[in-house]
Amino acid sequence: MKFFADTAEIDDIRELAETGLLDGVTTNPSLIAKSGRDFMEVTKEICGITDGPVSAEVVALDHETMMKEAEILRKIADNVCIKVPLTIDGLKTCKALTGDGTMVNVTLCFSANQALLAAKAGATFVSPFVGRHDDNGFDGMDLIRDIRLIYDNYLFDTEILVASVRHATHVLESARIGADVATMPPKVIKALANHVLTDKGIEGFLADWAKTGQSIL
Ligand code: E4P
Repeated sequence: MKFFADTAEIDDIRELAETGLLDGVTTNPSLIAKSGRDFMEVTKEICGITDGPVSAEVVALDHETMMKEAEILRKIADNVCIKVPLTIDGLKTCKALTGDGTMVNVTLCFSANQALLAAKAGATFVSPFVGRHDDNGFDGMDLIRDIRLIYDNYLFDTEILVASVRHATHVLESARIGADVATMPPKVIKALANHVLTDKGIEGFLADWAKTGQSIL
């Protein structure tokens, strides 16, 4: 299962990349606004930190303008993945871009039928938003289960990129279901390493080690 960082904060991305656990990055217009950085500049900088896919989202709503925006975005770096919304124009743009070898992430997916359309449009990734799904009284993980079943039924290559991840349980369930990728805020990725018994174990081992009076270095 691949881990993407869902952020445009350079320091966080760099720190995660240094752990060797980072497989890519996703951004969206809200994350770019939060970073306070220039879209093109920050995307280029992120693409230089990771070799993995870096999602950069178009903001146009019609196919022709989406194509023009994608043309500019894909020149930023070879690992840019064009993010398009799950609309008919977005799907048309997805088909056109993947047809000539550009990676595409179809975002704002909230139903299994939408995910089926994304796969038919040749999407590299589909992004179902589990957190926002939960917020609205649905079960986000049921959506991931349905998409996995449908993609396996027809051997679609589109990768399920679980998005809007809020906590470690979303990640655990995604892994159980067999989602291909989870994109997470950096704090969620780091929280996966936490366990009270790990901390307690380290404390006990170090206390006993101190009694030996030895050192490794
Ligand atoms: C990722 O591609 C999405 O843009 C992101 O996960 C949305 O998360 P949010 O629902 O926390 O804004």
